[in-house]
Amino acid sequence: MGDTINEEEALSTGTATPPEPLLRELEKLTTRYPTKRGALLLMLNRIQEWRGWIAPDDMRLCGELTGISAAEVWSVVSFYTMYRTRPGARFPIGVCRNIACWVQGSERVTAALAEKLGCAPGSSSADGKFSLQEVECLGSCGSGPCLEIDSRYFENVDPAKARRIVDALAQADGDPVRALEDAARAVR
Ligand code: FES
Repeated sequence: MGDTINEEEALSTGTATPPEPLLRELEKLTTRYPTKRGALLLMLNRIQEWRGWIAPDDMRLCGELTGISAAEVWSVVSFYTMYRTRPGARFPIGVCRNIACWVQGSERVTAALAEKLGCAPGSSSADGKFSLQEVECLGSCGSGPCLEIDSRYFENVDPAKARRIVDALAQADGDPVRALEDAARAVR
């Protein structure tokens, strides 16, 4: 076996470098705020959408682009629980379980996802592609049931929509950002 690794391995080990279009997008984000550091959270979101987690090189890159130290970037990344610093499921699904979503049927959405993925909340699908979690209020209470995948919200989700989202993501074999856009289109 040779030394080359495929794209999925490169993403999960942190050796992949952001593709040119993403790099350009990150640079552009820094021009949208009075100070470059104002773009940091958006940059981290976009990187996590692409890689599935945030690698040490990503933090260095964000530091270079925003003019702050990698240590400061790390302090931001480690403060927010939404950021992952280790590879995990490619598509972590968080279903809001708080009252507004609950009265609108979030339990049925969670049950449908658990059945579809073959895993209970708090665990991952057998292929490691998805994880399922019940989370606290996502701040979109008027549009429940609401779920979040890689900082992207899906609102007014019912069991059928939840299954369609998983189907769209399961078919993805490359860019996870595009996969999430496909999933959003599938439930529009
Ligand atoms: S209760 Fe679900 S988003 Fe607030």
